[in-house]
Amino acid sequence: MRDIILAGNWKMHKTIEESKEIALCLKEKFTELPLNVILFPPFTALYSISELLKGSNISVGGQNVYFEEKGAFTGEISPVMLKEAGAKYVIAGHSERRNIFNETDELIKKKICSAVENGMDVIFCVGEKLEEREAGRTEEVISKEIRIALDGIPREVLDHIIIAYEPVWAIGTGVAASPDEAAAIHKFIRSILDDMFVRGAGANMSILYGGSIKPENFIEFAILDEIDGGLVGGASLKCEDFYDIGKILVECKKL
Ligand code: PGA
Repeated sequence: MRDIILAGNWKMHKTIEESKEIALCLKEKFTELPLNVILFPPFTALYSISELLKGSNISVGGQNVYFEEKGAFTGEISPVMLKEAGAKYVIAGHSERRNIFNETDELIKKKICSAVENGMDVIFCVGEKLEEREAGRTEEVISKEIRIALDGIPREVLDHIIIAYEPVWAIGTGVAASPDEAAAIHKFIRSILDDMFVRGAGANMSILYGGSIKPENFIEFAILDEIDGGLVGGASLKCEDFYDIGKILVECKKL
């Protein structure tokens, strides 16, 4: 059985006070849902949110991490510090990190390994840009991202990774992928994992869809077996919307 997960990436939104406000609302609402929920607040709010959510079914994680534990790396955040602040997860490979901050597949690999070594699980994002999709290169791009980032990692480390398929053209644009296309890519990702590790590795991997998920469109994704949950940006900033997405997931997966 793969874990079903709902993750909310707040990106560079919400002050500490705003974060606390929505976290309290979510804590109250989500107690009735048997769902594994992860929030990725800004670093400034991470500790207070993790304290506030103690004892609930909502975990918190870091939106980014550096691969060294400490040192002269101005502006970076260490996995040890994240863990101490209450993070159980980190995001690696988000397209905004890849495209705005020029993160490479090699760097992403280091981040994944360091986070797992430090006791956190990773949401590892992959996805193609619009021009790559239009050139028929979607599978090639995703395959490269996965093969470099997961090359040579021990099989057990895979148990600490959740993959998120996020087509770059669907992030923050209001235009989600078609659910069937997303499911086909999830299947393709599983086949890469089978090829890289052992047969069955793909079947055990939780794969989330991300990109313009809203309460209005999520049911189409959540009903598909290949899709194990969602990584939500914009719609995770509103308590009601995120909760409605959670309800859909619980109903569709019969949790
Ligand atoms: P979005 O963002 O839901 O706002 O499209 C998704 C993401 O970047 O993870």
